[in-house]
Amino acid sequence: MGLEPPTLQVTTMKILVTGGLGFIGSNFCRTIITKHPNNEVINIDKIGVGANPANLQDLEKEDKYTFIKGDICNLQLINQTVKEVDAIVNIAAETHVDRSIADPNPFLQSNTIGTFTLLEAYRKHNDNAKFIQVSTDEVYGEITQGSFKEDDPPTPSNPYSASKAAADMFAIAYHKTYQLNITITRCTNNYGPYQMPEKFIPKTIIRALKNLSIPIYGTGENIRDWIYVEDHAEAINHVLTEGKPGEIYNVSAGNELNNVQVAKKILTLLNKPHNLIMFVEDRPGHDTRYSLDSTKITTELGWKPRFPFEEALKNTVSWYTNNEWWWTLLATEETLHPTPWKLRNAQ
Ligand SMILES: NC(=O)c1ccc[n+]([C@@H]2O[C@H](COP(=O)([O-])OP(=O)(O)OC[C@H]3O[C@@H](n4cnc5c(N)ncnc54)[C@H](O)[C@@H]3O)[C@@H](O)[C@H]2O)c1
Repeated sequence: MGLEPPTLQVTTMKILVTGGLGFIGSNFCRTIITKHPNNEVINIDKIGVGANPANLQDLEKEDKYTFIKGDICNLQLINQTVKEVDAIVNIAAETHVDRSIADPNPFLQSNTIGTFTLLEAYRKHNDNAKFIQVSTDEVYGEITQGSFKEDDPPTPSNPYSASKAAADMFAIAYHKTYQLNITITRCTNNYGPYQMPEKFIPKTIIRALKNLSIPIYGTGENIRDWIYVEDHAEAINHVLTEGKPGEIYNVSAGNELNNVQVAKKILTLLNKPHNLIMFVEDRPGHDTRYSLDSTKITTELGWKPRFPFEEALKNTVSWYTNNEWWWTLLATEETLHPTPWKLRNAQ
C-alpha cells in the first residue's frame, strides 16, 4: 500500500465533480486535491442516499475545494456552474441496486435525467470542457465466460444498470452529434473506506463486528471483480488527463471472487467463525458474473491497478474496525437488512 501514483502529464484544471460526498466521489476528490494539487474541485452533491458530509471533512478548509449542495437535475444551477470549469466528472448517481428494485424512479431521475441535464448545460454553455461519464460494468449485464470489451453492447439486467446504460447512450450520442469531448469509464465493483454500510463488503464487516449473521444471496456463487477505490480514482484521473474523446474505457483489477469467498476472507481477517454465513433468498435480476477486459486503458493510457486485493481488503477491514464513529449512525436495521430489496419503503 502507499505506492506513489504514476506520473501523468501535469495539467491545471478546475473540475466539476458531481456526487463527491459519496463513496467513489469522496475518494476521487481526495485523490485530486492531495495527489494532484495543481487541480481545483467544485463538488456538487444533493446529499442523497449514498452521501455523507463526514467523508470530506478533511478537505473543508482547502482553498482548492468548494462544496455546493445541489441536484444535478437542477438545470439553472448546472448551467451556472459548468461555465466556470475545464472538466466535468459525473459521479453522482443512485447506486443501490436493491433500492432500484424496490423503487426505480429516483434512478431514472438522477442517473439518466441528471446526466442528460449535465450534458445539455455542457453543450450550451461550455463545449470546450472535457466530460467524463463515470459508468459501471453492470451496463454490460452478466457474462458466464470471458470478459466484456468496450465495444460489446449494453444488456442491463436491473433498473439501476438500465438507468446507467441509458445515460451512457446519451453521452455517446452527444459526442457523435455535437462533436463534444466526452469519455466514459466503466469500472467493476469498488471496495475501500467511506462506502455505505448497505453495500456488500461494509455490511459484511460491520455485521461481523457486531457478531451478526452474514447474509449471502442465493448460493453465494455470484462473481464480482473487485477493485480498490483509490485505483478507480486514479483511473478516472488518467482518463480525464489522457483519454480520447468518444472512447469508453473499462477499468478492472483482475480480482474475480464469488460472494462466499469474499465473506470468508473478511471473517478470517476479523477472527470470526465462517458459520456466521447465512444464505438468504436471491434478489431478482441478480447477475451471475461480471468481468471486464481492461487492456485498453492499460495499454493506451498507461493506467494499472496498484493495490493487491489481499492487502487492500485488510486495510479496508481495519478502516471500518477503527472508524466506528463514521458508520455507527449509518448502520441501521434498514441498511444492514439481509434482503433490502424486499423492504417496501427502501427509498
Ligand atoms: N460502487 C461501485 O462499486 C461502482 C462501480 C462502478 C461504477 N460506479 C459508479 O460510480 C458512481 C459513484 O458510485 P458510489 O458507489 O460512490 O455511489 P454512492 O451511492 O456512494 O454516492 C453517490 C453520490 O451521488 C449523490 N447524488 C445522487 N443523485 C444525485 C443528484 N441527482 N444530484 C446530486 N448528487 C446526487 C449522492 O448524494 C451521493 O453522494 C456511480 O455513478 C456508480 O454508477 C460505482
